[in-house]
Amino acid sequence: MRLSPAEVQETASFYAHFRLLDDHEAAPAAVLRRCTGPACSMRPLDLGALPDGVMVEDVPCTGLCDHAPVALAGKVPVRRADAAKVARALAEPYSPPMPSGESFPVLDRCLSGELPRDEALTELERAGLRGMGGAGFPTARKWRSVAAQPGPRLVVVNADEGEPGTFKDRWFLENHAAQVLEGALIAAWAVEADEVYLYLRDEYADLHKGLATLIRDLPGDITIHLRRGAGAYVCGEESALIESLEGKRGLPRQRPPYVAEVGLFGRPTLVNNVETLYWVSRLLAEGAELFGNEGRNGHHGLRTYSVSGRVKEPGVKIAPNGITVSELIDEFCGGMEDGHVLAAYLPGGASGGFLPARLQPPLAFGAIEEHGGFIGSAAVVVFSQADDLRAVALNLARFFAHESCGQCTPCRVGTAKSVGLLAGPAWDRDLLDDLAGVMRDASICGLGQAAPNVWQSLFRHFPEVVT
Ligand SMILES: Cc1cc2nc3c(=O)[nH]c(=O)nc-3n(C[C@H](O)[C@H](O)[C@H](O)COP(=O)(O)O)c2cc1C
Ligand code: SF4
Repeated sequence: MRLSPAEVQETASFYAHFRLLDDHEAAPAAVLRRCTGPACSMRPLDLGALPDGVMVEDVPCTGLCDHAPVALAGKVPVRRADAAKVARALAEPYSPPMPSGESFPVLDRCLSGELPRDEALTELERAGLRGMGGAGFPTARKWRSVAAQPGPRLVVVNADEGEPGTFKDRWFLENHAAQVLEGALIAAWAVEADEVYLYLRDEYADLHKGLATLIRDLPGDITIHLRRGAGAYVCGEESALIESLEGKRGLPRQRPPYVAEVGLFGRPTLVNNVETLYWVSRLLAEGAELFGNEGRNGHHGLRTYSVSGRVKEPGVKIAPNGITVSELIDEFCGGMEDGHVLAAYLPGGASGGFLPARLQPPLAFGAIEEHGGFIGSAAVVVFSQADDLRAVALNLARFFAHESCGQCTPCRVGTAKSVGLLAGPAWDRDLLDDLAGVMRDASICGLGQAAPNVWQSLFRHFPEVVT
């Protein structure tokens, strides 16, 4: 394959789901991954006695926060896990969920010429659809930039969802896979790409078979390649994802992927999130009016919130864009758990920083920045008086240190240093401010730039907790 041992070694050692074995060392009989995400940490999982040869790994968020505590027994997700369910999952054969036959009405209209390209793009603009992977870039504008690059072009579906607290993309792939794939094929048609790559995070390996079946039966000439990640959060960043698809370590690049020289295989590449593509299909089926008056508190449209933590009914909630956290909890989540009062929340997962209950900005793009955070992929994790925010912050800092790709010094060294500082009895504000400044200013990608939100938001909104 014309690969040097160093290239193999650096790639194999980069991904958490690859295992390097010494000569004659046997692979474990089974791997049990116990989730340590923010919601699962509220409900610690006691595994009891496990069969011989099972290797237990504590891992970052597994993307099922509404079913905490969660474990992955090999490929099998164990929801609301306890020792008995885990033992069963390790022992019994598993049948993955399979989607049934689907139709693709919007795609048919696109391919037959009934819906012209420009009309489709205008409709997405009228709806104001923005990227749901976290950055919120206007979808139609991105499609136009990609289409303006010389072909051949590619489309990538980003199903690497790894932000702690986010689980909406899993839900869309479980419940609306056909609409997501239809959205991907419409995107490919709109930018005139003839191939699509779907990059599925390895924690969702149980969905692989069902997706492969659905893809096999798709209409049209566009090829969809289904690829599995190998356990690296940073590969959700679009340029790292492209590196990973090319078989390398997931090191983010510094240019947008629609420019040919940094796109996948040197081709201009459109990267869209799973949820974005779901909305493409639904908006073009139902019209931009679907988003018309649905927003709340001055915002527009619908969006999905992954709600977890101390609420009665956690889950994926399709709700008015711009809803506040208390509206979301009371109207969509059955209220707070008994005995718990809202104290704090993460509006946008680990990266978006903490907010206190007294601050209730609209949960929408651009509305949280004035408080020092952001909505990102709308992973709303709810904490109560029972939660130790310093301990949560340390957990999240460990996550970033674990997931830093190591390419740039501010992030590689900064995330490791932050863990040491946050683990101490008193937080050194001057030092942590200084560290945050360097990481924000000088890190290459969003991981290193956003990691300081963890402690900076506690200094800003919860001084009583950290001093
Ligand atoms: C550290 C990091 C992790 C990311 N993880 C994801 C992810 O898991 N899924 C995703 O769709 N976008 C993720 N993104 C955003 C992508 O880079 C990109 O903006 C997105 O896939 C574009 O699709 P969209 O316009 O449909 O949102 C991440 C960004 C960063 C900086
Ligand atoms: S900021 Fe962190 S994750 Fe991003 S390129 Fe630098 S070291 Fe890698």
